[in-house]
Amino acid sequence: MNQKTQGSRLEIQGVNKLFGDFCALKDINLTIEPGELVCFLGPSGCGKTTLLRIIAGLEHQSGGLLHQGETDISLKPPRERDFGIVFQSYALFPNMTVIDNIAYGLRSIGMPKAQIHSRVDELLALVGLEDQASKYPAQLSGGQQQRVALARALAPSPGLLLLDEPLSALDAKVRQHLRGEIRSLQKQLGVTTVMVTHDQEEALAMADRVVVMNNGVIEQVGTPLDIYQQPASAFVASFIGAMNFIDSAPLNGQRVKVGNRELDLVRPLPRAEGCIQLAIRPEDVHLLPSGDGEWEGEVQALDYLGAFIRTHIRLSDIELDLVVDVDPRSARRLDLRVGGCVCLNLPSDALHCFAA
Ligand SMILES: Nc1ncnc2c1ncn2[C@@H]1O[C@H](COP(=O)(O)OP(=O)(O)O)[C@@H](O)[C@H]1O
Ligand SMILES: [Mg+2]
Repeated sequence: MNQKTQGSRLEIQGVNKLFGDFCALKDINLTIEPGELVCFLGPSGCGKTTLLRIIAGLEHQSGGLLHQGETDISLKPPRERDFGIVFQSYALFPNMTVIDNIAYGLRSIGMPKAQIHSRVDELLALVGLEDQASKYPAQLSGGQQQRVALARALAPSPGLLLLDEPLSALDAKVRQHLRGEIRSLQKQLGVTTVMVTHDQEEALAMADRVVVMNNGVIEQVGTPLDIYQQPASAFVASFIGAMNFIDSAPLNGQRVKVGNRELDLVRPLPRAEGCIQLAIRPEDVHLLPSGDGEWEGEVQALDYLGAFIRTHIRLSDIELDLVVDVDPRSARRLDLRVGGCVCLNLPSDALHCFAA
């Protein structure tokens, strides 16, 4: 486990994919650095798997180029590319033991027997399955099967590890555990990794950078913090975390009109005709005792979510429902109750704005 794979750099330039006249990917440009873990995140059908399969050579792009390290892999068949892959469904050979599953790729590249033996031992230790080595896949839990699939993918020390929703079939607890294991394994080995997921929490928890996709295009690429704090579009803002949206009309400079009030924004306004969408996270709205804030509202509902209380508030003078997260201590201090009045401020440095 001291061996460190040399992770590859992956460069995707202007990749398009058409299925008939349906455009599944539009002008994808992305560079993934050696040793990085990047998540493709987006709703079902946005093109994540298609892009991963193009990287693997399992699907052919309609246009564009791919380079892995210095090598142009655009036209190479999968077997001439340097990657390991894990799918959602474990796809292990059911009639082979754990050992034989892991050794499969090593045999097919003609590695000498003794070397295979020690490499398999190393991988079994790496994924913590030493005591399951002689079992068949059907005798293992889902989480154990995914560990075998991971070991099999990593066996030939590929420069690139591709994971397509590897945790989606597992129950929540195993999923969380394996999430941490994959991440630390990936760091330890230094293997460049692309993981597809539709689970934002998984992407934010695991990735160095997240690629947010929608309808075949990349909406934003950034660190989990970037994506959460500086969403580049209304889609990203609504897809990642919770967000309140407020319609407004642009005035001069950085001012907008919401209902019959005017607000000053800190962020530059998007160039847009007509409406501007303001957005604010539930944790960024400031609740104040009745009478103290700029806006007044009525509490519609309180959801007790453990660490915080998700409060649903209807603003009185514009017909707008806001979701506000409050810690239990503040909720007590403010005496929040359904039907009660509350005041709030929308801090201008927490307001995002998007062209509607
Ligand atoms: N072989 C195919 N033939 C036709 N359409 C396809 C094919 N594979 C995927 N698609 C379509 O391309 C879009 C993207 O699919 P996919 O990459 O699997 O999405 P995701 O993995 O993000 O859920 C979907 O609309 C899907 O129906
Ligand atoms: Mg998919």
